Amino acid sequence: MKYLISAGPTREKIDPVRFLSNRSSGKMGYALATAAQQAGHDVTLVSGPVNLTHPAGVKVIPVESAAEMAEAVKSEAENADVIIMSAAVADYRPVEVHGDKLKKSDGKLVIELERTEDILASLGQNKKSGQLLVGFAAETRDVIKYAQDKLKKKNLDWIVANDVSRSDRGFASDSNAATMISADGQKMDLPLQSKSKLAKQIISILSTKNKNSV
Ligand code: CTP
Repeated sequence: MKYLISAGPTREKIDPVRFLSNRSSGKMGYALATAAQQAGHDVTLVSGPVNLTHPAGVKVIPVESAAEMAEAVKSEAENADVIIMSAAVADYRPVEVHGDKLKKSDGKLVIELERTEDILASLGQNKKSGQLLVGFAAETRDVIKYAQDKLKKKNLDWIVANDVSRSDRGFASDSNAATMISADGQKMDLPLQSKSKLAKQIISILSTKNKNSV
């Protein structure tokens, strides 16, 4: 099977020395890429800027911005059987990217932001037959409800929901717990464990389910 996985944050430039980003470490996406490769799959990892070693045997495509991630993911998606968007893609980017470093002045600075492309929603709109599309939902409240909304709205097969309001899981942590929800109504609680064990569990669930759907 061909797996396409995205990981890490994106960086949206303000000027040559500043950017907007988020707290994603990329650990979950890298763990998923490693688990998929070890399960015998052919894995491509589109990665935002992170401080992690490239997983052995995985093709890594490094990107910075949401626009670069969209371009790389959409071109690789053509041939993918399973796509897992675990990257924390910026929802907004500055309208104007300054060519020179911004100088401070008295008073407030207002930076106008515009929406980036929702890569996962675009993939959902153009889903190939038999392709399994998996999203992540990092939430701080009403985790299951918001995750189910995203599953439907973006035409996904699975969503992996996790609560990022707790310090023992999610984002920079080495451990995570999640609930996997499928479009056909399955709901699986995956308990708090290392991201590497959790990744193996997620890949194993997707492999089983994929055999039935392809
Ligand atoms: N995602 C994406 N492209 C974006 C933003 C998010 O592909 N521009 C993907 C993420 O990789 C993840 C899922 O969409 O798989 C997250 O869903 P989203 O609704 O974007 O969550 P949030 O960014 O947390 O947005 P909200 O403010 O609606 O909770």
